[in-house]
Amino acid sequence: MAIALRRRSLIRIAIFLAGVALFRFLISRSTSTSVSSFYGSDPEQIQKHGVLDLVTRGEKSLDARKHKFLQVRVGRDERPDLFSDTISDGITDYWERFQKPFITGHDTSYMDAQSVLMAIEQLLTMNGWVTSKCATLSRPFGQNNEDAYDDLASQGHLYYIGMVVHSADHFLTDQLAVIVQLARRLGTSNLFVSMLDYESSDSTETLTDLCEAVLTLLGVPYRIRRVPGMTLDPTAAYYPLEEAHTRNLALEPLHELLEKRSIRFHRVIWLKGFTCPNDILETIKISMVNEAAMVCGMDWAEHNGFFIFSDRWRTRDINGDQFRQSKSSSLSSSLLNTVPPRDTVGAQRYAKHLPFQVFCCESGTHVVDPEQSYYVGIEYRAGTNFHNATLPHDPPKHKPEDECLDSTQAYFCRDLWVWKAKEGIKDVDDDAAEETPKRQKRAPQEEVGVGPRDPTPQRGGDADANAGSDYDASDLPLSDPPPASEQRLTAPNSVFLPARIIVNPRCVTTYAGVSHTQLALDLFGPPDREEDEELKGQDVLPDWEGAPDTFVCQEQQTTGGRRAPKNQRRLGFSIHEELEVALGQP
Ligand SMILES: *[C@@H]1O[C@H](CO)[C@@H](O)[C@H](O)[C@H]1NC(C)=O
Repeated sequence: MAIALRRRSLIRIAIFLAGVALFRFLISRSTSTSVSSFYGSDPEQIQKHGVLDLVTRGEKSLDARKHKFLQVRVGRDERPDLFSDTISDGITDYWERFQKPFITGHDTSYMDAQSVLMAIEQLLTMNGWVTSKCATLSRPFGQNNEDAYDDLASQGHLYYIGMVVHSADHFLTDQLAVIVQLARRLGTSNLFVSMLDYESSDSTETLTDLCEAVLTLLGVPYRIRRVPGMTLDPTAAYYPLEEAHTRNLALEPLHELLEKRSIRFHRVIWLKGFTCPNDILETIKISMVNEAAMVCGMDWAEHNGFFIFSDRWRTRDINGDQFRQSKSSSLSSSLLNTVPPRDTVGAQRYAKHLPFQVFCCESGTHVVDPEQSYYVGIEYRAGTNFHNATLPHDPPKHKPEDECLDSTQAYFCRDLWVWKAKEGIKDVDDDAAEETPKRQKRAPQEEVGVGPRDPTPQRGGDADANAGSDYDASDLPLSDPPPASEQRLTAPNSVFLPARIIVNPRCVTTYAGVSHTQLALDLFGPPDREEDEELKGQDVLPDWEGAPDTFVCQEQQTTGGRRAPKNQRRLGFSIHEELEVALGQP
């Protein structure tokens, strides 16, 4: 009896082992090419975990060589153009004369790979004209030391790079060079690159081909996707809506990877304009030590021989005021009322090259914590109450207290504030349930307060307060925004848990025509100057302020694309009210 039992269990073990062996065999045969077809669904989508994944668990989750759906190109523009024939003839000729005759077998294939890699390296050094100079630019606090980011690399976190390209081919090769550098530092299978081409009409098409080739060869997971414009007629396009639409599309793989493969990213990096790789790594570090929801760099644009702070449309200091259009050299005058942020604490920290808290920012490359945003259901959105100028009816009459029809990023920031406040209430409610059940349910008072907040924020009367000139902000109204209307908030915003939105002045984003060496000298001084050792420790913000009760709203009330005229007013922002709307209460 005992012997029979033992024999039976031995047979069971043998069958189990044979089963595992068979699975392994199947996997080894179905590497890369047939894994996605094995699951039998749309190869453009992220695939759900299958039996195979469970057996091979413990391997790198973002292994692009193994999972074909991690490297996908969607909607490539195949329309023929002027050079299509010439290019296709050239490719065929090169293949027939220089490649095909020398391919004799499997054993020489590594040489082909080698020649492609060499070609890419050449391309990158040739076109990565800014990236290659990054290490020589002046930055404070040893930011450009080779080993400054080893600890970041060793943590093995996953990073999601989001890009929306709209006819901006002059950045793309440098942005690709930046991605390659980040992949080298953080690991090629620790990144996912989501590149959205929004109806570009320049050479973006060809350059995305190049990106595709480079990322494929490097084994970096990606989705490169081209989508048509929302409207053909530019006068019928509403820019904030386009911004929201394209950003949400660029985030689709982020959500798919979570839903279907339980892959969570540590941070989302939005690449905009040109930013040096080390500046991005520095911003990630600042995001981590502050547990920030969002950390932005600062945009600098060339303007009459100077560099000025750009992206004033979307950026607001912690008092809700617009940034100054400061020159990059304004620090050398050491006057705090000439630097971009208008609030006192922000200006002081900016002057020391330290990160500072803001109400909202986008300014160039920025790093978002998905756990405090996308993963909790926050999406990009825009106002819907705009006037469609192509339609015959009159524009709607706007009341002074109507919602602000500003950029999608401004909506995103307000959503971050409201979500954080709600989280704070939840925590307080949880604590209250445990400790003193009779404590007030909503609108918490001091218990979620965040330290003292200046009750009468300084609002300066700068002459340049509302002059704008960067691309998005080129039509900013010139008049001063009206003062805040007499508005009594039921609960001031300062009682709620604050969102952690930060600007990192050491992360420099630029556009064409900027001399990077000069800009770096303007901003940070010569590379070999004495540095205040103590400052290095001050990257963590000591206090977090609540949201301002009013902010400068610069809105687009009508369609007309990116350059549609903007209106300006000062508008109240009440988290308490927003929460009541969200909770469906009067
Ligand atoms: C404005 O109206 C036109 C014509 O009806 C339409 O095609 C377009 O999509 C509308 N624009 C927006 C942003 O809704």
